[in-house]
Amino acid sequence: MGSFSPGDPAAVQVLFDQIAPRYDQLNDLLSLGLHRLWKRQAVAWLRPRPGQRLLDLCCGTGDLALLMAARVRPGGEVLGLDAAAEPLAIAADRGRRQPWLPLQWQQADAQATGLPDGWADGAVMAYGLRNLADPAVGLAELRRLLRPGGRAAVLDFNPATGVTAAVQRQLLRRLVVPVARSAGLEPHYAYLERSLERFPAGPIQEQLARQAGFRQARHRPLAAGLMGLLQVEA
Ligand SMILES: C[S@@+](CC[C@H](N)C(=O)[O-])C[C@H]1O[C@@H](n2cnc3c(N)ncnc32)[C@H](O)[C@@H]1O
Repeated sequence: MGSFSPGDPAAVQVLFDQIAPRYDQLNDLLSLGLHRLWKRQAVAWLRPRPGQRLLDLCCGTGDLALLMAARVRPGGEVLGLDAAAEPLAIAADRGRRQPWLPLQWQQADAQATGLPDGWADGAVMAYGLRNLADPAVGLAELRRLLRPGGRAAVLDFNPATGVTAAVQRQLLRRLVVPVARSAGLEPHYAYLERSLERFPAGPIQEQLARQAGFRQARHRPLAAGLMGLLQVEA
């Protein structure tokens, strides 16, 4: 198995198709379950309400879509969108086990969804922006999809500097990659460090969001600076 290149959409799709069956389990293990808290913080920024139409871009196995779907009932809907088929199949399976949740799934590129302008009242993208070929294009598409006043939350690793960056690197090399190796997924998780190297820092993310047309953009560090939450408003 070779290495995976950040910014190469075909390689990224193969990577997430291959990770999909172990993804949820590894996420819980590697974050000590804390990714659930960070995801709830991302959703809280949207203040989801019954009747709303929300989007989960790069939804993977659907954690955020499931969270949001419970909040838009009755009358609302959530669309989870991902480029890779395998995580989407798991997401759809999870949705089928809670048939009362208003969920739809779609395989598409988050940079060119094909959805109409202003389609969504709110949107989230968790651990997705870093994987896109061009984060600026992803943010422009996100802006296009939101109605005026709509909010979006972009959760990801925080491309930290100084001590935090050193801690992050050590965590990736000493914990994440060895654990992934034991699951037969070392090249997949080694990709994480490389994808972080090309990911813009918080202030640049804010700048890119404003250039994409958001009237408000704030990047907040989470988990002692290891994670970051970009909160934007259209
Ligand atoms: C690290 S996973 C995150 C999944 C989920 N949001 C979560 O937080 O658990 C990244 C997801 O982004 C998807 N992805 C990567 N590039 C994409 C693109 N251009 N368009 C849509 N999805 C993409 C991958 O297939 C993968 O499922």
